[in-house]
Amino acid sequence: MQAMFGMSRSAGSISLLLLVVSLALLCSVTVAKQQYHEFVIQEAAVTRLCNSRKIMTVNGQFPGPALEVNEGDCLAVKVTNKGQYNVTVHWHGVRQMRTGWSDGPEFVTQCPIRPGESYTYRFTVAGQEGTLWWHAHSSWLRATVHGALIIRPRAKVPYPFNNGKPPAREIPIILGEWWDMNPIDVVRTATRTGAAPNISDAITVNGQPGDLYKCSSKDTTTFQVKSGETNLLRFTNAALNTELFVSLAGHTMTVVGADASYTKPYATSVLMIAPGQTTDVLVTFDQPAGRYYLAARAYASAQGVPFDNTTTTAIFDYGATTAGSSPAMPTLPAYNDTTTATAFTTSLRGLRKAELPSHIDENLFFTVGVGLFNCSGGDQRCGGPNNTRFTASINNVSFVLPTTVSILQAHYHAATPAVFTADFPANPPVQFDYTAQNVSRALWQPVPGTKLYKLKYGAVVQVVLQGTNIFAAENHPIHIHGYDFYILAEGFGNFDAATDTTKFNLDDPPMRNTVGVPVNGWAVIRFVADNPGVWLMHCHLDVHITWGLAMAFLVEDGVGVLQSLEAPPPDLPLC
Ligand code: C2O
Repeated sequence: MQAMFGMSRSAGSISLLLLVVSLALLCSVTVAKQQYHEFVIQEAAVTRLCNSRKIMTVNGQFPGPALEVNEGDCLAVKVTNKGQYNVTVHWHGVRQMRTGWSDGPEFVTQCPIRPGESYTYRFTVAGQEGTLWWHAHSSWLRATVHGALIIRPRAKVPYPFNNGKPPAREIPIILGEWWDMNPIDVVRTATRTGAAPNISDAITVNGQPGDLYKCSSKDTTTFQVKSGETNLLRFTNAALNTELFVSLAGHTMTVVGADASYTKPYATSVLMIAPGQTTDVLVTFDQPAGRYYLAARAYASAQGVPFDNTTTTAIFDYGATTAGSSPAMPTLPAYNDTTTATAFTTSLRGLRKAELPSHIDENLFFTVGVGLFNCSGGDQRCGGPNNTRFTASINNVSFVLPTTVSILQAHYHAATPAVFTADFPANPPVQFDYTAQNVSRALWQPVPGTKLYKLKYGAVVQVVLQGTNIFAAENHPIHIHGYDFYILAEGFGNFDAATDTTKFNLDDPPMRNTVGVPVNGWAVIRFVADNPGVWLMHCHLDVHITWGLAMAFLVEDGVGVLQSLEAPPPDLPLC
């Protein structure tokens, strides 16, 4: 299914040659290597938790194929939709410099690829190393349509850890979430009723729930490793709605990267990974030969909100002789252990000194949280608490996707119908005690809208992400498309500019594409708007994006050609 080829040789057929030529036209001269892949969206039959179901996959694989690239590689991925649903694919965390058309969020940068049609995503992976991933960005298809995107340094460039010694093996580990129902039906039911969607039935490691679930132990994911080896584990949290604690029995994990940016080595017994985030860790298998469980379960920060409280396991095996006995099990933090989650995220530091402009052009303050729409009596669509529908918002705007054209197309062809306005508020419309015990009910109902915030090319942007205690405070993993950002600080309660700015780490803050905004707290991020286009920012809990916890930045072109959005590709799908 996958083909890789060099720039100038080995084109055996004319069509391959043409492909090389068209890729060459796309890729810049500094590109290390070009790759072509084909993703066929298709159904596959799988059995989990004693049930057989048909799921949507890429190329029949679950999780989908891992893409392995070197920094600087240029990719063309042809996605052909042989499934029954509209689909798009997002390359989560890839900066997509000037190639917003290949970013993938449905109705934001493209119309969906309809059943029977195809679209080729073309982009370069530059300036990022570590682990990213790809996933469907249409309804809840990403539950099963996802895979790893592994980015190694260019040829001859060593890893900046382990004294430059390459790890003996590299192991991609994708954490996921499994429903006994079709996830599309789960979200459709929730949208129809206004109630919260069903929680999942299992957490998975590389698609398998593991030994603690019914009918699962014969398929538990097992990693064969060798005594004494140091391996690189590349974790991705691909779960839809669950932040996860992860631990490996008997072994210390040394974090060396997150979201494809290197970190200072940080040794820990537990990771907290939010949906959308990745974490690269080194593990030395220096314990007595045997079998050790890797285990993951929820970090559930919201009080009184149902969550999947099951535990997934996989096995690290370096001692076949003990195969009969059961593997050692790690201790995981309590589900609501915010102290441990915070200790982990605030321990991450960028490997190198940040290149961080000290002035700010755009100082934004965004409240993020859920809410409830009140219903008039008897409305069937009001299955939320006390005759309401669940909703969510940023600065009191609950994001609504257009349906007739993507926002990026509407922006590019200024003539198409205006499906958005560029008046997203820089501050919440009303200031209140965001994290109070009892936020007035009058503040629980956001206003639906498709509002963007316009940024000048090159603007230095700071965003205070402020969680609210509306309905239930919760840790929200906020993700921005097309950008990495520095996380300068985080804290609990209301952000106070007078005192909290002194806590900013302007020296070696971690760089990420997804930040967990602490439950009933805040996080401050900063980035330079150097990538023109339309870039979605949203909570990576799919239940919250479904409810509207999103907005988008419209970054204008700069002056030069290399500071402008490319022209749309000819095969861009139409709505
Ligand atoms: Cu993985 Cu819109 O994101």
